[in-house]
Amino acid sequence: MRKKILAANWKMNLTNGEASDYLEVLVKELGEVNDVEVVLIPPFTAIAALAALSDRAPFIRLGAQNLHWEKSGAFTGEISAGMLRALYVKYVVVGHSERRLLFGESDAVINRKVRAALEAGLRPILCVGETLQQRENDGVEKVLEYQLREGLRDVSPKDFSEVVIAYEPVWAIGTGRTATSDQAQAAHAFARRILAAVSDHAIAERVRIQYGGSVKPENTEELMRKPDIDGALVGGASLDPRSFAQIIRKAEAALAA
Ligand code: 13P
Repeated sequence: MRKKILAANWKMNLTNGEASDYLEVLVKELGEVNDVEVVLIPPFTAIAALAALSDRAPFIRLGAQNLHWEKSGAFTGEISAGMLRALYVKYVVVGHSERRLLFGESDAVINRKVRAALEAGLRPILCVGETLQQRENDGVEKVLEYQLREGLRDVSPKDFSEVVIAYEPVWAIGTGRTATSDQAQAAHAFARRILAAVSDHAIAERVRIQYGGSVKPENTEELMRKPDIDGALVGGASLDPRSFAQIIRKAEAALAA
């Protein structure tokens, strides 16, 4: 049984002070969470503030939005996996479509980051997903297969089930336009077949595949009921702790259904 993972990707939003206030509200809204995993992914500058409050919310895991693949050195502006580990970070987003499209990250760079994260004991959240143009020209499956095979190249079998995949169709990000639950399920099932092809069936069954793209409280439960959707990577609707708390509650409700 894969534990569902609900992650808040704040992108370039919220200061360290705002992050602390957010956590207070989230904890008040939620009380305790046992059945799903909750991850907060703030900007680098707010990680320490959240880490300092971890005893207030022991069920919350911390994530980062990016990393550099080298351990240290002359890489101005970059952050290493070891630096994140030292702040109790467990997850790191790799290959988000905004990094791919706005900052020119290639699949080869993304693969180096995935491997650097695993080597340091971080769990990468590898983001994949097609643009609208790719969907129309190449088809979803071709894009997903390429991004998964390249992103996971040379990942050792022992590390494989540490990886989380996030399927984020680019046309659904920040647009209010969600993939239907059937569209998302089809893409997730396909992604799992590719995972089985590059590792094996048993490992692929253990890997969690999150959906991302205009997830909000109103569409969470239906998405989370699908057999291959193992959580959500939430952008805009995660910036308000009350709305993210509702998303978590809806995901729990989907388990009970
Ligand atoms: P939105 O939820 O704002 O569409 O963003 C999704 C996303 O990119 C999460 O990583």
